[in-house]
Amino acid sequence: MPTALLVDDDLVYASALAELIEQEDYEVRTCANVREALEHLADNVPDVVLVDLLLPDGSGMELVHKVESQALHTRVFVITAHAELDSTVAALRAGVEDYLTKPLDLQHLRQCLRAAKAETSPPSGPLACPPASLDGLGPLIGSSAAMRELYAAIQKAAPTNMSVFLSGESGTGKELAASAIHACSDRSDNPFLAINCGAVPANLIATELFGHERGAFTDARSQHKGYFERADGGTLFLDEITEMPLELQVQLLRVLENRCVTRVGGLREIPVNVRIIAATNRNPRTAVSQGHLREDLLFRLMAFPITIAPLRRRLGDIAILAERFLRQHNEENGTRKTLAPEALRFLESYSWPGNVRELKNAIGHAYILADDSLQPAHFPQGVEPIIEEEGSSLQCLPGTPIDQFEKRFILATLDHHNGNKRRTAETLGISLKTLYNRLNEYRAES
Ligand SMILES: Nc1ncnc2c1ncn2[C@@H]1O[C@H](COP(=O)(O)OP(=O)(O)OP(=O)(O)O)[C@@H](O)[C@H]1O
Ligand SMILES: [Mg+2]
Repeated sequence: MPTALLVDDDLVYASALAELIEQEDYEVRTCANVREALEHLADNVPDVVLVDLLLPDGSGMELVHKVESQALHTRVFVITAHAELDSTVAALRAGVEDYLTKPLDLQHLRQCLRAAKAETSPPSGPLACPPASLDGLGPLIGSSAAMRELYAAIQKAAPTNMSVFLSGESGTGKELAASAIHACSDRSDNPFLAINCGAVPANLIATELFGHERGAFTDARSQHKGYFERADGGTLFLDEITEMPLELQVQLLRVLENRCVTRVGGLREIPVNVRIIAATNRNPRTAVSQGHLREDLLFRLMAFPITIAPLRRRLGDIAILAERFLRQHNEENGTRKTLAPEALRFLESYSWPGNVRELKNAIGHAYILADDSLQPAHFPQGVEPIIEEEGSSLQCLPGTPIDQFEKRFILATLDHHNGNKRRTAETLGISLKTLYNRLNEYRAES
């Protein structure tokens, strides 16, 4: 029998709700506060968790994060009397299945419970997406907690048709994650197409995406199908979505809502069945506030948000990534070069602003220079352990240029405050304007 954990401090309400859940053939455990629920979760993995956000000893979000970090299949529903936009968005971002407001729509709740039960019963056919091994999922490599969370999110998102919004610094593997979602979905026999909105000239994006009819403009000698039509039945990856001109974002929103495209110069509406995965290496909220991304489009795309952690937050993955990249070179060239232990220590003490892409290139560079064993001296200039990062503290080696230190220090503080610029500026004792100026400089450098 599937199991449910219900966390609500209103005991009368909770017992009525528990009865309803039991009627749906769940075994229910009720807890009145965060502590009790955490104790229960330490030994049990319920199929469904229903949690009130406001609890006497803390926030229900603590439980949401706990469940998300350990259980792949548990469905979490947040129930609250206070539906505020911020907490809704935060809950949905944390992977919450649904957000139910009191008074509850009982019919809807029953449907949710039935759907969750159907998903927890063993699948009849082969799994669309095999369970992730400890050190990777498809082309993605890494066994850190952050990567395991990513695999869990991919596996949750893949079987649905929801839009996925991937954010993460450059080189963290957003495109790879998008292709993994496609490969794990039942669209995998159909195309996976990627368009980089930052690389296509603004005036061509519309024809690239939506296609054009013959004679739509001077050079349009023949009809052209756009990405949406060509990806029909499959997945379209919209990379650097914040670089798409705003007027096109309006058109995109319309396509997502109507599920039809109209070719440039055409009138006919052509139905399309395409799953969208969008990505950006900017902070999406900042992109909205700076006018690079329409908020309504963000909401539409944020059905399933996934953030990929920078490599410096998962240094434990460096060994396995480095070994894998080296193995690829060895296999391609019929060699048996190895990574010296001191080289690994060296790689693990660098902060990798270019993330996995930079590591991959660095291994390629060192592979060429090394005879049998890759040593610290074989890595490109610039890959230097200028700063050793441990927990939330930074250690700087003597001789580090001051502007480099300042940059790392500012970025680390920003990270520490989860991207909150006001708090970062306050902590650093600089004005918000100075912080923005520095961040713009860093962006221009990269
Ligand atoms: N977890 C990973 N395992 C193996 N290879 C990875 C991983 N993450 C990234 N890579 C490799 O690093 C490179 C960059 O990855 P990808 O293009 O997916 O990054 P991105 O986040 O889309 O970067 P950008 O924002 O610059 O477009 C690719 O060569 C990819 O194969
Ligand atoms: Mg990319």
